Amino acid sequence: MRPALFRTRITELLGIRHPILAGGMGPRVSDARYVAAVVNAGGMGFIVAAGFPDPDEFRSELRRCRELTAGRPFGVNLYLSRQAGGVERLRRQIGVLIDEGVACVETAGANPEPVLPLLREAGVKVLHKVPAVRYARTAVKLGVDAVIIVGNDCGGHPGIHGIGSIVQAAHATQVIDVPIVIGGGIGTGRQLAAVLAMGADAVVMGTRMLVTEELWIHPAAKDLVVQGDGTESVIVKKALRDHHRVYRNESAEAALALDDAKVTDFEQYRPHVMGSLTHEAFVTGDMRTGMLDYGPAAVFADAVEPAEVIFDRLIDDASAAAERLAALRPVSECDPRGS
Ligand SMILES: Cc1cc2nc3c(=O)[nH]c(=O)nc-3n(C[C@H](O)[C@H](O)[C@H](O)COP(=O)(O)O)c2cc1C
Repeated sequence: MRPALFRTRITELLGIRHPILAGGMGPRVSDARYVAAVVNAGGMGFIVAAGFPDPDEFRSELRRCRELTAGRPFGVNLYLSRQAGGVERLRRQIGVLIDEGVACVETAGANPEPVLPLLREAGVKVLHKVPAVRYARTAVKLGVDAVIIVGNDCGGHPGIHGIGSIVQAAHATQVIDVPIVIGGGIGTGRQLAAVLAMGADAVVMGTRMLVTEELWIHPAAKDLVVQGDGTESVIVKKALRDHHRVYRNESAEAALALDDAKVTDFEQYRPHVMGSLTHEAFVTGDMRTGMLDYGPAAVFADAVEPAEVIFDRLIDDASAAAERLAALRPVSECDPRGS
């Protein structure tokens, strides 16, 4: 493992070696083994609570992760649903994660206000993930510990505004004073260095990590990501204003056709977007159906490798980028090196 090269507000807040987060991947993609691999490689990972609706199963997944990380801190992803009963279900899950000493949560999906007091009172760090700076500003006012801002390139839910990561990063650092994590299309150390240079504190990755050796998904699924150059990524469900960036397969094509026809009745999308199809695809490796979160950062996922190797490559690349930048500075006349 590479030594700590960058100390930021996020490495300090989370007590991690590298400013690299692996975002939660649902429904059960980021499990204890994967999250532990990310944590042991010096980053922060998140088990997706929604993948474990049974509290006992959730608890035992958290315990498995704690064992595998030998007590190092790890995180949980909490999806904030606006559906009836959503907050109640979350409160039960939060009770379990507090019990089990989880260090931090990545909240996403909606305003974290209903669950924030519970988490903060228990000392759980809250990193709220949003697809635009304007939502991050609201979250800061509510008192989150950090914000994660993902741009239009992100696998999963890029929001409706279509703003790219490089604009989000430059804008966020102008107007937000809590630690900032930037995601969407990230898969190299050059991008990590650029994000840090812009004043942010870490990156978050999803798609790039689909080829992690410790991830349980079928080897054929990883192979597809390795072969991909990112052009297979497409945004569907735009007509529903529930933009979803996924792998362009038969289900995505069907959803795109509905979008083109401006269909706003969810029932017509349902057969193509059911969560069970997604899980099935990752289990069997048959990626023809299901909504498979997938962004253009697939182009950087060029080999199946352990999390630690992926992180080492990122850190080496970031270090080279920082040196390139330093070498670009003209030698001034009063600089002793220039004399
Ligand atoms: C397969 C997959 C599943 C994901 N599932 C979730 C999820 O359940 N909850 C969530 O907040 N984000 C989810 N994400 C988004 C990631 O946590 C992360 O924000 C995003 O992937 C970053 O953009 P990138 O894919 O360009 O790296 C998922 C991403 C992928 C690739």
